[in-house]
This record gives sequence, C-alpha cells and structure tokens, in this order.
Amino acid sequence: MPPKEEDHGRQPDGQVAKVTLDEALALAVCAHREGRFPEAAEIYHQILAIVPDHVDALAFLGVAEHQAGRPQVALELLNRALGLAPEHPDALSNRGNVHRSLSHLDEAEADYRHALALRPDDPNTLGNLATVLRARGDWEGAVAAFRAVIARKPDHASAWQNLGGTLEDLQRGEEAMAAYRQAARLAPASADMYRDLGVALSIEGRIREAIEMYRQCLALAPGDARARHLLAGCMGEDAPPRAADDYVRAEFDHFAANFDAKLASLEYRGPALVCQAVEEIAGELPLRPAVLDAGCGTGLCGPLLRARASVLVGVDLSTAMVALARQRGGYDDLVVAELTGYLRQHGRTYDLIVSADTLVYFGDLTEVSAAAAGALRPGGALIFTLERAEPADAPSGIRLHPHGRYSHTRDYVASVLGQTGFVDVAISEISSRKEAEKWVPGWLVRARMPAVG
Ligand SMILES: C[S@@+](CC[C@H](N)C(=O)[O-])C[C@H]1O[C@@H](n2cnc3c(N)ncnc32)[C@H](O)[C@@H]1O
Repeated sequence: MPPKEEDHGRQPDGQVAKVTLDEALALAVCAHREGRFPEAAEIYHQILAIVPDHVDALAFLGVAEHQAGRPQVALELLNRALGLAPEHPDALSNRGNVHRSLSHLDEAEADYRHALALRPDDPNTLGNLATVLRARGDWEGAVAAFRAVIARKPDHASAWQNLGGTLEDLQRGEEAMAAYRQAARLAPASADMYRDLGVALSIEGRIREAIEMYRQCLALAPGDARARHLLAGCMGEDAPPRAADDYVRAEFDHFAANFDAKLASLEYRGPALVCQAVEEIAGELPLRPAVLDAGCGTGLCGPLLRARASVLVGVDLSTAMVALARQRGGYDDLVVAELTGYLRQHGRTYDLIVSADTLVYFGDLTEVSAAAAGALRPGGALIFTLERAEPADAPSGIRLHPHGRYSHTRDYVASVLGQTGFVDVAISEISSRKEAEKWVPGWLVRARMPAVG
C-alpha cells in the first residue's frame, strides 16, 4: 500500500525540497489522494526518470492515468509494473479495474482472482470481482462474491444494494427485497436504496408499496428522474409524452454494464427480428443503403447490419451504452444524442432506419415518426419494435407501465405512421423477449416513405 499522507518537503514558497525517492513517492501519493492528479503524475514521472523500473511509481501512475480517462496508457503502465512484480495485489486489482472499464471481462476476472489469491480478505477486490461476474451473467458467482464482501463488512450498504440487484437478475424477488431493505437501513439518507426497493416491489406486482418507496426516494432526491418516471408508470397518470432524457440517461448509464447479460437471459431477439425484416425488404432498398440504428444501445444490431450498409450510424442518449457499442465495433459513426432531435437535424440522409426496443420509451409517437419521415430519403424504410397494448387496456392507444416502458395499440401506430407520411405500413405480432418467464407481446412495424418525395 502507498505510504500514509504526511506533510513532506514543502518550502514556504511552494518549491519542493530535495527529498529521497520514498519521500517523493509519499508526496505524490498525498497529491493523488487529494485529487491533484497532474501534480501526482508529475512526481511519478520524476521518480521514473531516475528509476525507470520503480514498481509503485509505475503502478500509481497507471491508476492516475486511468482516473484521467486514458485506460490504454494506464494498462501499459500497470503491465510494466506487473512485469516487474507479478505478485503485487494492488497493481493486479487496479489493472483489473482498467480491464473492467474496457469491458475486457475475462482479463479483469483473472486479475481480481489473482489479487484475491494473494490477499483473500480484501473487500474492494471481492466487490469488483462480484461486479464483473454480474456483468458476465454469472449471477450465482456474483451473489457469492457480494455475500463474501458482506461477511467481511456487514455494514457495506452498496454491497447489499448490488446483492439485491443480482438477486433480482436471478428473479429471487423476496431475497432481493430483503437485501435492498438492509441497504436502506444502513444508508437511510441514500435515495437510491428506496428507488431500487421500489423497482423490486413493482416487479413483484406490489405497486402500492412501490409507489411509497418512489415517494420516499423523491422526498430525499426530488430530481431523481428514474423514481419520477417509474412513479408515473405505477400511478397511471401524469405520464410524460416520452421518457424524459434524464430518465433514459440515468437508467441506461446505470444498466449498461449488465445489459447484454441481462437481455441474453431474457432471450432477447429484438435485433434479430428487426434485421430479419430488413432482409425481407432488401430488394426494395438500394444495394448498399445508408442505415441508422436509432437507439443503438450496446450495438447488438451493428454486426447484423454491417455487411449490408454503405454507412452505418448509431445514435443513443446513453453515453455508457454508446461506449459499449464503440467497443463492439461495426459502426461508421456513433453519436450520443436524443433521437428525435438527431433525426430532425439529418433530413433525407438515410435509406433505412431501424430501431429495436427503443420506441418503447416513447409514448406519443407523432414527433419521432415525423422526424424519421424527414430523415429518410424517398422510398426509405423504417423498421422498429414496440410492446403491444390492447385497446381495452389503452383507450388512448398508449399506456405507460410500472416498469417504465410504454405499450401501443395497433390502430394508434398505424394512424400515427399514416399521418406523418408513411405508406405500406405493415404491423405484425412478435415477441422480442421474455419477462418473468413469459414472452412479452410486441409489434414488429415496417413502413416506407413514398418513392417520390
Ligand atoms: C432497450 S435498449 C435497446 C438497445 C438496442 N437497440 C438493442 O436492441 O439492443 C433502448 C435504448 O434506447 C435508448 N433511448 C431511449 N430513448 C431514447 C431517446 N429519446 N433518444 C436516444 N436514445 C434513446 C436508450 O438509451 C437505450 O440504449
């Protein structure tokens, strides 16, 4: 571990006196801990200029580079440190963190496990290992690791919270709620805990209790976009025309790391269904169409569309989701932006717009449909999925649900597309994924712009 903070070697005029290497390292660590990264990095560099193989300076500089948003540089430094000292538990754990941020989940897991073999009782490394296991969909392993953290630190509120989330992934609702309740007991001023408990209650159909939890969350954090949106979903009133941008960002930035594993467990096939529909109309499109993946998320549609597209662009509001799409690759461009605004700024740009499981975050489809019509070239196609509502449950054609997504009736969808200039509208029944072991009823929608604009 780095030396403890001490007041080393500073002259009254701010100059650093001549110090030993150990003292210099202590100064750097002190600056690092206080968040003065450039100062810390400068001293680490000075140490390395004298002793290029100084393991701690290499390792700590690696951490500083990671904190400064340069993971590749961080990785090189930590690799060098570990080349010199392969059994350095902090460097292993820190390199695991860098790998995790780059979604190198195998490498992250290996580093954490190696660090834990050397220092089995380190709760931070155990917690990080648990997070990686959860992202990989090894939920049983993650539960065991979160429980191991809790065994060492029973009052670790966020370990209880993460345990709750993982138990929810495993559909062990009662245990999840017990874990969230414990988290809320340990951190009663933390709004998150009440919101998460609200979500778990709502999944179990305990809507009144969920409403109470969202209200408690909002009493502590009135700006909590997720609680606000989910409360509207539970109340069935004051539904916004679409999920607010801050809700979408908060929800998907939070969910991003676990998205692929979670959706795989729900047998998610939205991208496959949308791309199959693209194949069916391929003859009606240009040979190499310009394609927009609207609400691209982690980029699951990218590999399915790449070969066909002349240009493939993804747009999404969530920075964390887009970062994962960038790592997956396949897109010519990825843009963090709100979809309707993006479409409005890109008139007659695309031959094909696909959107898998994204317009479920829109209630009123009028604006986004009009914007998509404007962004398509003459004859261009729009293909997307929705969740299905029956007219009896959604007299206005739109319904916001406690889970935060909207469903739509067939007549509503057909009418909006017609009013906004689309022709050849085809709406078929599909299901893009399961929830609580049941297939969620949905629509696959295809529509075109008239060939002459
Ligand atoms: C369920 S994910 C689907 C992602 C991807 N299409 C897929 O099938 O894996 C929904 C995505 O829509 C994005 N989204 C929702 N509303 C949006 C909006 N108004 N503008 C841009 N992106 C939005 C979210 O950030 C999220 O990444």
